[in-house]
Amino acid sequence: MQAILGGPSGALPASLGPAMSGAGRVTLRPLRRSDGAEWRRIRIRDEKLLRPWDVSGSMTWEQRHSRPEWRRHRVQLQQATARGEAFGFAIEVDPGSASGEPAERFAGQVTFGAIQRGALRSGWVGYWVDSELHQQGVASAAVAIGVDYAFTFGGLHRVEATIAPANEASQKVVRRLGFRQEGLLKRYLDIDGAWRDHLLFALTVEDVPNGVMARLRHRTAR
Ligand SMILES: CC(C)(COP(=O)(O)OP(=O)(O)OC[C@H]1O[C@@H](n2cnc3c(N)ncnc32)[C@H](O)[C@@H]1OP(=O)(O)O)[C@@H](O)C(=O)NCCC(=O)NCCS
Repeated sequence: MQAILGGPSGALPASLGPAMSGAGRVTLRPLRRSDGAEWRRIRIRDEKLLRPWDVSGSMTWEQRHSRPEWRRHRVQLQQATARGEAFGFAIEVDPGSASGEPAERFAGQVTFGAIQRGALRSGWVGYWVDSELHQQGVASAAVAIGVDYAFTFGGLHRVEATIAPANEASQKVVRRLGFRQEGLLKRYLDIDGAWRDHLLFALTVEDVPNGVMARLRHRTAR
């Protein structure tokens, strides 16, 4: 299938979604070079919320969010996408404007990585959202859109999320979307300066015959 990422076409769709959240209309799109300023501003401001769940690094948080680091992050993701090993999106939220004109803003990221093809067809999902938009269903909507893409054009059969036991918000996001808790991975990831245990959550295509967005809509409507 040409549409499978890492295949000859290798291109991401210009826009995915929308899904509605309490903060407005949520869509996903490929990262742009111009997202760098907002990526840096939001992530530096939200250090206290992001750092406990982020990979360890020898640089300071500010250094990890410098202009060159943004470029490196984007180029690495593009290269991994071209190899079929990853794909990632910017989350956009449009709260709507009085004039009715689109007013999208960069609100975070959803990324799929460590993608294996062949008989496995699996990968992990990671995500973060601007703290100004928390607890309004933005992450749930964005991850639902991303997983539906991963299970169709992304060519995956299984998506995993590994989450620190203390990260309640993230566990709620995946549980809400139907991910099942499959186990506890001991000293699994080098996070915030130490090897941390992580809960393993997973979803396979068979779990969501009508897609994750449909499941989320159904759950929200109840
Ligand atoms: C995890 C994160 C992406 C959630 O974003 P969000 O947009 O607030 O999530 P949603 O609004 O879709 O919330 C989903 C559920 O989590 C709950 N929730 C959100 N933030 C919460 C918090 N701080 N504490 C407890 N529950 C929380 C919501 O109430 C909702 O619960 P419900 O299903 O019972 O209604 C966000 O907190 C974040 O960016 N955290 C830092 C990065 C991170 O942890 N990434 C994941 C690493 S595994």
